[in-house]
Amino acid sequence: MINTNAFQVLSQLAPEYKKTHLKTLFSDGNPRFDEFHIHIPGMLYDFSKQKVDHKIIDNLLQMADEMQLSEWIEKLFKGEKINTSEGRAAWHTALRDIENPLPEVSEQWTKMETIVNELHNRQLRGYEGSPITDVVNIGVGGSDLGPLMVTHALEMQKHPKAPHLHFVSTLDARQLEQLLVELNPATTIFVVASKSFTTIDTLSLADTAKFWIQQSTDCPRALQHHFIGISANPAKMTEWGIAENLQLNFWDWVGGRYSMWSSIGLTIALELGMEGFKSLLAGAYAMDTHFRTAPFKENIPVMVGLIGVWNTNFLDLSGQAILPYDSRLKYFASYLEQLEMESNGKHVRRNGEKTSYRTCPILWGEVGPNAQHAFYQLLHQGTERVMADFILFIHGQTKNERGQFHHNLNIANCLAQSRAMMVGQDSEDPNKVYPGDQVSNTILLNEVDAYQLGMLVALYEHKVFVQSVMWDINPFDQWGVELGKKIALDILNRIQTCDSEGLDSSTVGILKTIWKD
Ligand code: F6P
Repeated sequence: MINTNAFQVLSQLAPEYKKTHLKTLFSDGNPRFDEFHIHIPGMLYDFSKQKVDHKIIDNLLQMADEMQLSEWIEKLFKGEKINTSEGRAAWHTALRDIENPLPEVSEQWTKMETIVNELHNRQLRGYEGSPITDVVNIGVGGSDLGPLMVTHALEMQKHPKAPHLHFVSTLDARQLEQLLVELNPATTIFVVASKSFTTIDTLSLADTAKFWIQQSTDCPRALQHHFIGISANPAKMTEWGIAENLQLNFWDWVGGRYSMWSSIGLTIALELGMEGFKSLLAGAYAMDTHFRTAPFKENIPVMVGLIGVWNTNFLDLSGQAILPYDSRLKYFASYLEQLEMESNGKHVRRNGEKTSYRTCPILWGEVGPNAQHAFYQLLHQGTERVMADFILFIHGQTKNERGQFHHNLNIANCLAQSRAMMVGQDSEDPNKVYPGDQVSNTILLNEVDAYQLGMLVALYEHKVFVQSVMWDINPFDQWGVELGKKIALDILNRIQTCDSEGLDSSTVGILKTIWKD
């Protein structure tokens, strides 16, 4: 990135834009919105509250050309092995190509549909022959967050025959233990969701669930009825004891954090029905098509990504707040934390050299109105300069009078906050001074439904990809999580043998305090 001509130009321009207050860009009734928004069917992207003008945008687009963004997009869509450190493709777009699905993808849709129909029609039965009523997804990271986020968001569109869905992910088993008290083993099925089928968090919880089923019955084949497996590692599923007819697959070319579009989305399909799941895929496919074909200047993921790079690398903003104004998107920020930070939280370029520039900002978020009463203070009067994404829907949850009133409140607050962050406020009392000048995006969608949610998630996936191309990093591996896993295994062995020799004094001190207790 830093060797491009556009980078040099943007670096020279940046100090002037840093100094210019955002509100002055809107002064004298400047109709910035007209020039700095993109509207496609179902989605409006307003970037008028960003410190950009045509000069900046033209240079960002030139930088994208110099970094060969078009070529990279084609490699992504063609399933080339662009995850070079693992020698794999990153072909999540193939999972939602509803017009030309790969045969193996269609085959999994058929298997998913069979399981969905059997569960909806109470044909899948437990060891006593009673219909399964409860489904518990056991998984972590990409095998949890996508299905959790989507099923929470779309609960209001639940299929009338959907079983009760539960999600457990925490290693300490608290969630699972609490659930097991309420559930009946004879009518509960567990979905063990793990791409690798080696993740200790998931397998230890699955073993606890297995023990619970085994304790409840003498039936020797009980386990065959109570576990569905979803993995890219079928041999491991079989070895663990998942019946072949209850195994769903996906492939090493699907990254964990990009996997909710695959059979990992089974719980989504259980909640919405297969049609609803396909609608989610269709929304993502619409965004894929837009991303692949729209000119960069009118391309929402490209512009969101490039403006994020401008903010991070030229205006030196270090945080990214995600602020959805709808409580149904409660888990959206958690989902994006993995998507963005596990993808682009890297400091090594594709050629192995260390980057000399910043990459992924720290991303966090919360449902907007709740966050207003929590961390917005920092956004308005703190010392950190951050960028914010406001996500808003035209239609609210309910159409009755009170519902519409609440939705109007929601809209008013969203617009008020992005405006307050932009204009700020002067005052004689220093406590009441708001510097303003905080940049933001607003993304406006029609309503919270499967199609629109598919579009929204795919937008962020592609934004991440655009930024990875600018930063010349591989967004599809996650080597940074391995060291902690290795050390945890070593410490677990030491805990079991009461051996702390050779460890640092902090770890030893804490272990010895625990052992004394
Ligand atoms: O440890 C990180 C990670 O590998 C994520 O990338 C992944 O989503 C999560 O763990 C769960 O992995 P798996 O689906 O293989 O259990």
